[in-house]
Amino acid sequence: MASRIKHELPPARWPSAEEAERSQLFSPIRLGSLEADSRTWVPAMVPWRATDDGFVTQNVIDWYGRFADGQPGVLVVEATGIRDVPSGPLLRIGHDRFVEGLRELTEAVRVHSGGKTKLFLQILDFLSIRRRPEKEKFFARFLQVTDRHRNAVHERFGDAAAADEASVRAQLNQCDDDVLRQLLTAREFRDYAWGYREEVNDLHLPHVRDLPEVLPDLFASAAARAREAGFDGVELHFAHAYTMASFLSRTNMRTDGYGGSSEARMRLPLEVFAEVRKRVGDDWCVGTRFLGDEVIEAGSHVEDVIGYGVAFANAGLDFLSISKGGKFEDAKQPGVGAAAYPYTGPSGHECMPTVRSDERGPFGRNVHLAASIRHAVRKAGHDTPIITAGGICHFEQAEAILKNGEADLVAAARQSLADPDWWLKMRMGRGSEVRRCIYTNYCEGLDQKHKEVTCQLWDREFGGTDADSVPRSSDGKRRLIPPSWNK
Ligand SMILES: Cc1cc2nc3c(=O)[nH]c(=O)nc-3n(C[C@H](O)[C@H](O)[C@H](O)COP(=O)(O)O)c2cc1C
Ligand code: SF4
Repeated sequence: MASRIKHELPPARWPSAEEAERSQLFSPIRLGSLEADSRTWVPAMVPWRATDDGFVTQNVIDWYGRFADGQPGVLVVEATGIRDVPSGPLLRIGHDRFVEGLRELTEAVRVHSGGKTKLFLQILDFLSIRRRPEKEKFFARFLQVTDRHRNAVHERFGDAAAADEASVRAQLNQCDDDVLRQLLTAREFRDYAWGYREEVNDLHLPHVRDLPEVLPDLFASAAARAREAGFDGVELHFAHAYTMASFLSRTNMRTDGYGGSSEARMRLPLEVFAEVRKRVGDDWCVGTRFLGDEVIEAGSHVEDVIGYGVAFANAGLDFLSISKGGKFEDAKQPGVGAAAYPYTGPSGHECMPTVRSDERGPFGRNVHLAASIRHAVRKAGHDTPIITAGGICHFEQAEAILKNGEADLVAAARQSLADPDWWLKMRMGRGSEVRRCIYTNYCEGLDQKHKEVTCQLWDREFGGTDADSVPRSSDGKRRLIPPSWNK
């Protein structure tokens, strides 16, 4: 981003209880077969509280229970893996053994929200990514030496340097990055400098080639388990840096009928949805989150994805939640031993914009994407609800988005993390008590380090009566859930 300005929080005028009662924000809305009590939405946020085997913990239950205290119309549980493979402390739903813990979670949310909040599970698939290797290791072991390297080393450094594979490896290890950029392919340089990462274009890898065969069933089985666990629906994660978003991306060049043209890029997402719908039936909510703009070079923009929105609505998805950016392609270079993280580059900033932003600022920054998609979906004759997110932080802003017909529900991730009761405070005419997010992304920094996510506005507050009993981070320094609000 060219130049960043530090923006002030927009002033907030909070509604009286009567005004909130009459508002669109707190009016019900149909999402497929169910009705949400209001148009308020907490989108998925990974809090890093699952076990290393992907099970629900008491900390996971407490976290979602605390969000449910604020009674949002919809609460979406974090991105949850559909495969039965180790993936660190991220929730998983790739086997029946995960159902029991997830059921405890859904029951807790029902109790905490007094039955007011609809609970969805965001389900995802992701491809393999490795940590950035040590230079010596990369050239000694990981790089597959080819004639291209032999010839390049020979041309540049002479006979001895290219005598055998060991000398080619040793020579490459001596080169600086500028030279390596010339001697390696772009992909090899990325593997060395950022760490190896699979792509949907890697048709030479059998498990990547077979994704269209395996993913519909994996998503459908996960959705069926979510239904069994008591969720009200699922959100198919077709956004950000993960497998399904990569199928939708303009950068998808697969030659097997699942890449290239826009129809081909949409094919797998539509097949996944069809299988999910077949498995869970028509009387259960199935929606998706996808990108209104990838914000990467050669990626999809809103003009491309408007067609996706219409196709998803045609197919019968029950809601469309629009996000932006969050890609690996422009992620910052990680340190040696760390993995690239998709929220560190310009596209990451667009996903979770901070107060240090361009002149448009972070507040409601992505609404226009949802509005364009909504317009096209309505024009095609569908009333599929559209959800927008990104810097939504006060009543009048949210109400205006709804009144202007830019979206049908408004989502707030970080504002809800700063104060999960904020929805209820607004509804009760007590908005002046809202603890307002300051959008500097301390929480996102913790997420990046895979540390338990908390908010800087409350995680050191130990003055209350729960000081001894409240769960703490593994280093004991931070409280893991916000202090309770005395209604
Ligand atoms: C800590 C953290 C974790 C997140 N995890 C997810 C996730 O699992 N899935 C997802 O779709 N978005 C995720 N997001 C993005 C949010 O859902 C949301 O789109 C983004 O923060 C912008 O909304 P906001 O300005 O209201 O925070 C995450 C955001 C944060 C801050
Ligand atoms: S840590 Fe900062 S950006 Fe994150 S929710 Fe709290 S105030 Fe907002």
